[in-house]
Amino acid sequence: MSLDSALPTRLMDTSVPRFVDDLLEKAIAHEATHHRCLRRFGEGSYGARSLDFARSYARWYHGYSAWFPHYLRAVIERLDSAEHRALLASNLAEEQGHLEEHDREVLSAMGIDPSTVDGVPHPQLFRRFCTAMGLGPEDLDAPPLPTIEWRSAFRAALRAGSGAYAVGALGLGTEAVVSTIYGPIVKGLERLPDLRREDMVFFELHCHVDDQHYDDLRTIAIDLSATEQGRRDLERGMNDALDLRLQFWGEFERAVATAPAILEIQQEAQGA
Ligand SMILES: [Fe+2]
Repeated sequence: MSLDSALPTRLMDTSVPRFVDDLLEKAIAHEATHHRCLRRFGEGSYGARSLDFARSYARWYHGYSAWFPHYLRAVIERLDSAEHRALLASNLAEEQGHLEEHDREVLSAMGIDPSTVDGVPHPQLFRRFCTAMGLGPEDLDAPPLPTIEWRSAFRAALRAGSGAYAVGALGLGTEAVVSTIYGPIVKGLERLPDLRREDMVFFELHCHVDDQHYDDLRTIAIDLSATEQGRRDLERGMNDALDLRLQFWGEFERAVATAPAILEIQQEAQGA
């Protein structure tokens, strides 16, 4: 059987941009993007234990998030086109804290002082959130095992796959979904007392300002989806990234969100 005849009809017949946008819809609808932990935190269902949830999420997610520049570099290394590499190199500069004039305007319009963000690498913005949650180096420098497994597996997959696979994983399976994931996180954090806006700016930045990253990756994905193999790899990379994130949520929920103390509060809230 030839490779072409082995492909599902959907992969052969869909026009190229439509194919990428159909994948995006699948990524947005994936359980990893709408995990019940997120929904419950956003709705305030964890009640008085919301602070514990946020603190645990900060500790668990930090180790993965801190490696974001590594993921981006791994994708850049997999790309053949100098033009594609240049697009992602500018994303890397933004990860280091570079703000365009337009970004400053968006932040100001949201009531966030751009000077609290400008020039601050994104991993450091996440660390600022962790510090506000009361976490110190002793908490952050030894990530939980599921975090170590997630980031190692993700980086290894990016390094081992084709360019299309890596773009599917970091573009469609990651950058395309983070603003949807961070929405309920922001809602949940807004309920916490004493958390300053600049302490949670990492999330708002990625909800409202960092969209250019996905747009660049979408442009590259469209180019790479010109071949059947490219389409196949884009979809596989996206699914693998989302499945790894879902695995993380499962571990997080087992260890933290359904810990007896949090469950107790949920049952009290339901019984009330
Ligand atoms: Fe970022």
